[in-house]
Amino acid sequence: MKVRKAIIPAAGLGTRFLPITKAMPKEMLPIVDKPTIQFIVEEAKNSGIEDILIVTGKSKRSIEDHFDSNPELEQDLEETGKVELLKLTQQITNLGVNLYYTRQPHPAGLGDAIYRARSFVAGEPFIVMLGDDLMSDKVPLTKQLINDYNEIHASAIAVMQVPHEEVSKYGVIEPEGKITKDLYNVKSFVEKPAIEDAPSDLAIIGRYLLTPEIFDILEHQKPGRGGEIQLTDAIDSLNKTQRVFAHVFTGQRHDVGNKEGYLETSIQYGLKHPETKDELRKYIIELGKKLEQESKKK
Ligand code: G1P
Repeated sequence: MKVRKAIIPAAGLGTRFLPITKAMPKEMLPIVDKPTIQFIVEEAKNSGIEDILIVTGKSKRSIEDHFDSNPELEQDLEETGKVELLKLTQQITNLGVNLYYTRQPHPAGLGDAIYRARSFVAGEPFIVMLGDDLMSDKVPLTKQLINDYNEIHASAIAVMQVPHEEVSKYGVIEPEGKITKDLYNVKSFVEKPAIEDAPSDLAIIGRYLLTPEIFDILEHQKPGRGGEIQLTDAIDSLNKTQRVFAHVFTGQRHDVGNKEGYLETSIQYGLKHPETKDELRKYIIELGKKLEQESKKK
């Protein structure tokens, strides 16, 4: 069966980014000039996804507005002859994917957010994309997972080696031997283990290809770590009745879900953006010199 659908959970409260997330969704934080969620939607589109369900919550309405048309703005851009900006604005409404929205009424965990997509998914294999991770590689990571599915007809979860002291921030896999260059068999999936209990340094990184049987498990899933319904726990159960593989990602991952990662990503993208790259580069070189001098004085 063709993988055509994706779910983007975007209901989180964004507490790591307060105060900006008090009234603004963290998914709308810009990387230079584009909200992070647009990068995710574009990755889905570039991977052949046709339908996307965004699971939102309170004070998330600007996500819908962003992907909607803005006739007043468009008219103004047209009248003032700002053709390029008009094109840019209209492209967002014509990305070539269908966007659907539903709300999670209470933040009850990633597993609960995904469960809300059951009837949308309607028995097909599907993708889950978490908005905190921006991925870049020659082939989009979502497409890599779809390619896996087309060969193995099973679930595949993207993982990446992380520094050992960071494992407790992630879902972690207990690998059980490689089946190809990129794919591991998995013995167990553990949500945010204590560092000393972590079965490996291979962390789940925000792209999942799942078979629809996950919903039968989520339906009865008990709260796990943090008192929340954890997707990782449901995946661990699924792996007991059908194989769930881990796909090792070797491209670049930008974690925009914390302040430092967000700033680093903004700088890296700013150094590529045609309007900012030259001036920003000069500024960073000068700043580097200044900081070096300052640290020598200390
Ligand atoms: C979620 C998942 C976790 C995964 C992480 C990747 O955690 O529960 O298994 O490793 O995303 O970013 P969160 O970061 O939402 O707490």
